[in-house]
Amino acid sequence: MSNKTSAFANKIEGSKTLAVTAKVSELRRAGKPIIGLGAGEPDFPTPEPICTAAKKAIDAGYTKYTANVGILELREKIAAYLNNLGGNFLPNEIVVSSGAKQAVLNALLSTCNPGDEVLLPAPYWTSYPEQIKMASAEPVILPTSELTEYKITAEQLEKAINNKTRMLIFNSPSNPTGAVYSKSEIDEIVKVVEKTGIFILSDEIYLELIYDNFVSASLVAYPEIADQLLLVNGFSKAYSMTGWRVGYLAAKTPIISAAGKIQSHYTSNACTISQYASLAAFDLDSKVLENMKVEFARRRDYVYERFSKIHGITVPKPVGAFYIFPNISHYFGKSHGEYVIHSAMDMSTFLLESAHSAVVPGEAFGAPQNIRVSYATSMENLQSALDQIEVALQMLH
Ligand SMILES: Cc1ncc(COP(=O)(O)O)c(C=O)c1O
Repeated sequence: MSNKTSAFANKIEGSKTLAVTAKVSELRRAGKPIIGLGAGEPDFPTPEPICTAAKKAIDAGYTKYTANVGILELREKIAAYLNNLGGNFLPNEIVVSSGAKQAVLNALLSTCNPGDEVLLPAPYWTSYPEQIKMASAEPVILPTSELTEYKITAEQLEKAINNKTRMLIFNSPSNPTGAVYSKSEIDEIVKVVEKTGIFILSDEIYLELIYDNFVSASLVAYPEIADQLLLVNGFSKAYSMTGWRVGYLAAKTPIISAAGKIQSHYTSNACTISQYASLAAFDLDSKVLENMKVEFARRRDYVYERFSKIHGITVPKPVGAFYIFPNISHYFGKSHGEYVIHSAMDMSTFLLESAHSAVVPGEAFGAPQNIRVSYATSMENLQSALDQIEVALQMLH
């Protein structure tokens, strides 16, 4: 069959999480009470004022195309939000897209040439390497470990840069590890970016989800790299708006013009109704976001404490996002009945069938010794899942 599909399609891998998702549906259909810890989306409903704004938009007839780059009111609010973080953006330096996922692809398509190298710290969000390849560039992995809490160092970055390096993809807080770079760590990374002149794509989609008053920073607050920065953010995670599909890229000309031009030929504007709804996200009572954050932090504390007490599991405490990323390699080579654990993929199948808990294998994130557990689900679900996971792991010998 491969001769019937394009070389482009053949070089892209489908989502590795799909095997798990398909298995979850199959087991649920068979009546098994599977607890989903795989989802990359908040379990909270979208806040009511956002839904109301969407209904009003429909009634007001905002159901037609908008400007390709998004409605001006939204770009004004996005610029104000970024400038409040220390940036210096005008509304025409923003392209609103159908989710942050599209904004990342727009960023890559606007800057990369065939053969360019894009530095990608691992563990990484599953779409980055595939999107880099879609932009005809090559992902170059920067490995990290628990010893640095899954963060790269400025020295490591500097050593990895050569004359083919076009860009660094930077994602703090991180999906899948929940790691957050401190302000001083970011200062050091920015120095290397400035010195070497590479682009930095900063995906800050989890920026509002940082716990314990940990001091981090947005990359927009570094004017010295303003011309090298491609800032991606969106509404999915912070405002529980995954289904509305609104994200954005902020960058200086000529990059932002290129992104607009590219988007104008493959999706045009993001959903009009969702754009009007997103305006309301900026006017939400801060308590709404704070309540979600407090609940995520409570769950994070709970899952961290439970996992760190399980024999053989090692895990740094996540500081942001809503994932925890335990290292389960202690169990490699162990078995229970028909189940033999050789990989994180084997472990997720085992946990699905023996603990009725769906997690995502680390292979999806370039980290084959780990599993990703999302705590964007109720405390009751987390308690049951952890009880069942603990029992299942004890069965492995
Ligand atoms: C790091 C990261 N970037 C981007 C996205 C895409 O978000 P959106 O739903 O806005 O496309 C996700 C979603 O999982 C993510 O985890």
